[in-house]
Amino acid sequence: MKNFTLNDGNKIPALGLGTWKSQAGDAYQAVKEALRLGYRHIDAAWIYQNEAEVGQGIHEAIAEGFVKRQDVFVTSKLWNSFHDPKDVEHGCRESLDALGLDYIDLYLMHWPIAFRPETFMPQSPDDFWPLSSLPLSKTFNAMLKLKALGLVKSVGVSNFSVKKLDQLIAESGVVPAVNQVELHPYNPQVELLDYCRDHGIHLTAYSPLGSGDRPESMKAQNEPPLLENANINEIAVSAGLSPAQILLAWAIDRGTSTIPKSTNPNRIAENLAAQAYVLSDADRSKLDNIGIQFRYVSPQQWFIPGVTYQSDDFWD
Ligand SMILES: NC(=O)c1ccc[n+]([C@@H]2O[C@H](COP(=O)([O-])OP(=O)(O)OC[C@H]3O[C@@H](n4cnc5c(N)ncnc54)[C@H](OP(=O)(O)O)[C@@H]3O)[C@@H](O)[C@H]2O)c1
Repeated sequence: MKNFTLNDGNKIPALGLGTWKSQAGDAYQAVKEALRLGYRHIDAAWIYQNEAEVGQGIHEAIAEGFVKRQDVFVTSKLWNSFHDPKDVEHGCRESLDALGLDYIDLYLMHWPIAFRPETFMPQSPDDFWPLSSLPLSKTFNAMLKLKALGLVKSVGVSNFSVKKLDQLIAESGVVPAVNQVELHPYNPQVELLDYCRDHGIHLTAYSPLGSGDRPESMKAQNEPPLLENANINEIAVSAGLSPAQILLAWAIDRGTSTIPKSTNPNRIAENLAAQAYVLSDADRSKLDNIGIQFRYVSPQQWFIPGVTYQSDDFWD
């Protein structure tokens, strides 16, 4: 398995298994099968509400000798309701308990948005904490303390723009190890990629296949299905691969790790095999210049009237 080295010296495997939307029963089988096949990177989060199953998959894979704990890179994410520094350790321990682990390899601030404690999903402006009174750097500093406690090995963020990274680094004096964001040919985020390369921040590509199984309520009308793109399909046919494999090879070729979600054993294996493929210059250029801009994942439902977070300034 190819790895990338983080700015703290830890190594992140280039390809991991996503677990958002993996249903009860499926999540456990998928994680166990992935580890049996050779995956060494599992992406989890408190909000996915399936960390107990993900942990069960990891434990059974260890018990059956497929892998050792120290060889699996497990990511989890602090939910928005645990941003108050006094709640950060509690949020982390809830994930550790659910996963049944002593430590998490990479702990990310899931979104640059703070909810009031106990808010699972916000319903009104009162459920938010304005960033002016609870800056992201305070939450990040509290997350860094989890390293000293031995609860996490690396600390990073997710869904951060260049502007938010700049501000976080200036206020905390610490460069996050990772920024996990949506990346694929329709949303290549070249400026962010360049910034992260320059600052030693590793990028992880989420929704690399276009997140086709998101709930309908999260989908835009007539959104362009990434896996059906004609150029991607043409490259796939001539390479003898699937469109998903081309997308994953492109992500790794850019120096980003990538975490496709699947609960289907054949597709879990297919995605793992993608890491061996080397893109040609011509294919890379076609994928880099695909000519469609589209973002699949957006916290649109949180941009409610009266809240200080609005879509115009969110992806600044
Ligand atoms: N930090 C964040 O805010 C954030 C946001 C979004 C996602 N993520 C992470 O990133 C992971 C991946 O993103 P995602 O779940 O949004 O979407 P994704 O990985 O882009 O797409 C998942 C969809 O692709 C299908 N699929 C998987 N492999 C395939 C293949 N080889 N051929 C055709 N279809 C295939 C899956 O179906 P089957 O399961 O049936 O195979 C599922 O419908 C998440 O699971 C999560 O861990 C993080």
